[in-house]
Amino acid sequence: MQKVVLITGANSGVGFSVADRLLEIEPSLTICLACRNLARAQVARSELIAKHGSKCTIDVQSVDTSDLKSVYKAAEEIKQRYKCLNYLYLNAGIMPVSTINWKGFLKGLFSVRRVIEMFSTGEGLLSVEDHSTDDGLKAIFTTNIFGHFVLVLALKDLLVNSKTHIIWTSSSNARRSHFNINDVQHEQGSEPYSSSKYAIDLLSLAINNEWNSHGVYSHITCPGLSITNITNSILPKWLWRAITPVMCSMRLFVPRITLSPYNSAEALVWLFQQDPAAVAQDRKYISHCNVLGKRYTHAEMIDFDVDEANELYEKLAGLEQVFRNRFKS
Ligand SMILES: NC(=O)c1ccc[n+]([C@@H]2O[C@H](COP(=O)([O-])OP(=O)(O)OC[C@H]3O[C@@H](n4cnc5c(N)ncnc54)[C@H](OP(=O)(O)O)[C@@H]3O)[C@@H](O)[C@H]2O)c1
Repeated sequence: MQKVVLITGANSGVGFSVADRLLEIEPSLTICLACRNLARAQVARSELIAKHGSKCTIDVQSVDTSDLKSVYKAAEEIKQRYKCLNYLYLNAGIMPVSTINWKGFLKGLFSVRRVIEMFSTGEGLLSVEDHSTDDGLKAIFTTNIFGHFVLVLALKDLLVNSKTHIIWTSSSNARRSHFNINDVQHEQGSEPYSSSKYAIDLLSLAINNEWNSHGVYSHITCPGLSITNITNSILPKWLWRAITPVMCSMRLFVPRITLSPYNSAEALVWLFQQDPAAVAQDRKYISHCNVLGKRYTHAEMIDFDVDEANELYEKLAGLEQVFRNRFKS
C-alpha cells in the first residue's frame, strides 16, 4: 500500500524540501501538502509533479494552524480522505521579527561563544512580535504548537490506527529559560518564538508518554539555519546571498548553518528512514552540514523535566477541550 505523508506548511522552505526529498527516496508516496494558502500550495504541487512525475500522488489540504475552526475542519476532511496516515510532519511556523538587536549583535561579536550562539540559534539577535488571533490566543503559540496539537487530538483515531510517526519542526532557539509552565502562551515574556519551540520539545515527550503504547511515536527536529521566507523577514534575500560564502566557511564551527531548505530537511528526512520505536525520544535531531557541504543529522539531548512535560500536555488538552466544546455548541 502507498505510504501517506502529511506535511503542514509544505508550500515553501523546509516543508517543501521535505516533500521533495521524500519523493526522491520513495517516488510512489502520497504526500498531502497542508497549507493555509491554497494558491501557493497548488504552485508547490505542480512543481513537485513536474519534478517527480506521475508515480506520486500530491494532494492539497487547506489548514490554518492559527485558526482552530480551520484545524477541526481540516481534521474531518483528512479523516475522510485517508484510511491511513504513516507520517505527520508538524512543520508550519511563524517568527514575525520586528527588529534586529544590533546592539546585542555588536556586543556578541566580542565573545566566540556568543558568536556561535547567535549564528546557530539567533538568540539575543531578534525581537519577535506577537499578536492575538480571532480565537483570543497568542498567534505564535497557536500557529507553531497549539494548532498542531489540536490537529493531533482531532486525528487521534486515525493516528492510532495508522501507528503514525509524528515529526515536529522545532528549533535550536528553543530555550527552557524562555518557557514558563504558568504562562504557556508566553503572554508575559519577550521570547514567544523560543517559548513556543521549547513547548514543542516538551509536548513531543509527553505525547510519547501518552501514545507510545498505541504505536504512535513523536520526534523533534531542528532544520538548522536555513534561508527561507522566515529568515527573509530578518535580512533581505540579496544580503543573505551576499554573506553566503562567509556563512559557508562558518560551518567549520557551526555546522547547523544549513543555508538551503534542501540541506535543512536532512534530519526530517533521516527520521523518515528510521524505525520510530528505535529512535531516542529525549533528543532533538538537528540538520547539519559540514564545511565541505556534506549533510548529516546530529542528535542533541533536550533539557527537560518529565513532570513539566506531562503538565503541559494536560494544560493544552484542557484548553483544547474548551475550544472543542465552544465549536460544538
Ligand atoms: N529557516 C530557519 O532557519 C529555521 C530554523 C529553525 C526552525 N525553523 C522552523 O522551520 C519551520 C518551517 O519554516 P521555514 O524556515 O521553512 O519558513 P517558511 O518558508 O516561511 O515556511 C513556513 C511555512 O509555514 C506556513 N505557515 C505559517 N503560518 C501558518 C498557519 N497559520 N497555518 C498554516 N501554515 C502556516 C507558511 O505558509 P505561507 O507560505 O502561507 O506563509 C509556510 O508554508 C518553521 O516551524 C520554523 O519555525 C526554521
